[in-house]
Amino acid sequence: MNARNTERGAWGSRFGFILAAAGSAIGLGNIWRFPYVTGNNGGAAFVIIYFAFVILIGLPVMIAELSLGRRTARNPVGAFAQLAPRSFWPAVGMLGVLTGLGILSYYGVIAGWTLGYFLKAVCGGFSADMSYIQSSEIFAQFVADPLQAVGLLFVFIALTGIVVKGGVSGGIERWAKILMPLLFVLLLLLTLRSVTLENAAAGLTFYLKPDFSKVTVNTLGNALGQALFSLSLGMGAMITYGSYISKRDNLVTSAAYVCLFDTLIAVIAGLMIFPALFSQNIPPAGGPGLVFETLPILFNQMPGGMLFGAGFFLLLTVAALTSTISLLEVVVAYLVDEWKWKRNTAVWMMALVAFALGIPSALSQNGSAFFTRLPIIHMGFLDLFNILLGNYSLTLGALLIALFVAFRWGIHQANQEITQMGQIFYGKTAWSILIRFLCPIAILGIFVYILLTRNYF
Ligand code: PHE
Repeated sequence: MNARNTERGAWGSRFGFILAAAGSAIGLGNIWRFPYVTGNNGGAAFVIIYFAFVILIGLPVMIAELSLGRRTARNPVGAFAQLAPRSFWPAVGMLGVLTGLGILSYYGVIAGWTLGYFLKAVCGGFSADMSYIQSSEIFAQFVADPLQAVGLLFVFIALTGIVVKGGVSGGIERWAKILMPLLFVLLLLLTLRSVTLENAAAGLTFYLKPDFSKVTVNTLGNALGQALFSLSLGMGAMITYGSYISKRDNLVTSAAYVCLFDTLIAVIAGLMIFPALFSQNIPPAGGPGLVFETLPILFNQMPGGMLFGAGFFLLLTVAALTSTISLLEVVVAYLVDEWKWKRNTAVWMMALVAFALGIPSALSQNGSAFFTRLPIIHMGFLDLFNILLGNYSLTLGALLIALFVAFRWGIHQANQEITQMGQIFYGKTAWSILIRFLCPIAILGIFVYILLTRNYF
């Protein structure tokens, strides 16, 4: 164990860290969000731009976050405060902590739906010859039930609290080691089923054959937002996870593994979803309800479908859990480090706050007329939070983190941290160019554009 970290906790092994960080990155973002964002943005061309952003922006920013965390062994606020005391920079960490709590609140709602759908599938709640219209209705009714939505949110946040309470290696790492391999196996099984369906080829063509005439600046904005969200960047989750890494471990290869696994799972999720959609003649641009509305039909039409259905929603629940863990951990680490709260107290108090904050989102799907269509902006509460926090705040956070590491803390310091104990920094020059020039300029450009066009709305 890393001596400096003993009271805070530390990862038991490098492999354990990679799984936990991959667990944070891999979540609803990959399996629920990536396919519908890809569907809405025209398919393969979007996927290619997404890859480019993961490599050119996601990976460099992840290395920056991990090195900030490991250098300071602190939560996001403490990390900035230590490297730039008496400046506004700790506020960037605070933005991250609040963003984490906010994302947890609405993410927990969607995660609750997946848990509910898992239970529904186990209980045989989907009839065998459902049409797309019927399954859309079932979904709409399901999410509109206020007590159920709030109850599932409660259960999910409680599950998250139980794992986080166990601490870094005894809770988060231990569970990641069990849950992540399980997820991978389930995903592969479902993908095999999907690509062998009738008419699977049409889905694969949509997903894999690019048509660049569909690319606009909006596509770029959506690809960047998706990359940051999916890799858990821009709010200090990776600063926090980095703070538990041993000085002996290689940050750069670890970051590369996390990006690789995250992208791999998203790509496989696409291979699972699109053939299934096309085999049912369901339009790919179905929006956020996509997996909930379309997959139950598919499951019902295959032998052992209920088992696959239950398996899929279990998988989504597992993936979501390893992500909500990291969202809660950021806030908990902040309270433990900076305010000397007991871990236990911090976990349950913040779980309670996230739950309360999540109630408006849980009621925003027709559970309450007010939260379903907020006055003035005329949108649902969950959508509002998702756009403000999941898109704008993460983009702003990633921009500020890149600027901080590049120009305030400095490339030289970061290099020193990364090459601790004789570690080799593969791609050092490329990284310093990307983090100083390409990342800030590209993120700022896209951010200004989406602000002006309100593209995320
Ligand atoms: N990366 C997670 C996902 O793809 C979501 C997340 C975002 C988790 C930000 C932590 C921080 O589902």
